[in-house]
Amino acid sequence: MKATAKARANIALVKYWGKLNTDLNIPAVGSISITLDKLWTETEVEFGKSISADTFFLNNEARKDQLDRVISCLDILRSLAKVSYAARVVSHNNFPTGAGLASSASGFAALTMAAARSLGLDFPPKKLSIIARQGSGSAARSIFGGFVEMHVGSKGDGSDSFAEPILSSDDWPLDVVVAITERKEKEVSSRIGMAKSELTSPYYGEWVKTSPIDLNSVREAIQAQDFEQLAEVAELNCLKMHAVAIASQPPLVYWNSATVACIHAVRELRRSGIPVFFTIDAGPQIKAVCTPGVSKNVEKVLRDIPGVLDTLVTGLGPGVEEI
Ligand code: PMV
Repeated sequence: MKATAKARANIALVKYWGKLNTDLNIPAVGSISITLDKLWTETEVEFGKSISADTFFLNNEARKDQLDRVISCLDILRSLAKVSYAARVVSHNNFPTGAGLASSASGFAALTMAAARSLGLDFPPKKLSIIARQGSGSAARSIFGGFVEMHVGSKGDGSDSFAEPILSSDDWPLDVVVAITERKEKEVSSRIGMAKSELTSPYYGEWVKTSPIDLNSVREAIQAQDFEQLAEVAELNCLKMHAVAIASQPPLVYWNSATVACIHAVRELRRSGIPVFFTIDAGPQIKAVCTPGVSKNVEKVLRDIPGVLDTLVTGLGPGVEEI
């Protein structure tokens, strides 16, 4: 009973930050993301009577610190399949883990699909999205490719809190230039960071209240393929999320000086007429979203900024797949 799945990371253009229900991992706000082709996790899951305990290896290292979260996801699938076998989970990321590049999104999306398939469960993507959400909120979006919207839902059991595609990458191909400014795992995970913001940030209430405005505006911009509107609202929403985080106690400053220099460089490029905007998740990496014709130019500018260690360019990619 073995299966392997590949899922790609995604970056949010309207961010998820805060939870309605911690046990079921229901987000407090909806979100919209794009799935990235070249940043992926591949995960093999094997269930079997001969396996005595759940184990989790990431990039050839046993990760006991992540095991509880992996087990919670396996438990959901075991209970749906009505089995109690232990599992061996072996995962590889082709990009830095836990550094604000959405490794938990690709990780839990790949784990959900691989575990379901190895238990013989042939679930539709919506159901996989609901299960992946319980591992990591952003993982619900990595089940799908292209432009994806995650819904808060209104049912207390989380059964309508799932993601769905809103536009395919073929309809509107965009590129993303990722500037890596730090390779270490971040000190405060998104999970802990958002819990701190919920409890202590004076801006958290306004963040939740104004998120639907950003969601509507970004959804509209995507449907109309209006780059300028997408750029304005995505940058605003990103800065709002970081303002909420920065005003938490203790403050959560995910950026370093290279992150800030990249923000200014991207804004300058847009002012000069280049279709590009930035977004940043809970980490110091910057993602510059642009039209494919300008990505080489954007990469060149970001690569020369002091503190930028590496850059990579990716297009938008498909949803999770069994391999
Ligand atoms: O899915 P999590 O728990 O890793 O949280 C993701 C939070 C952000 O990346 C900051 C925003 C988002 O919507 O992806």
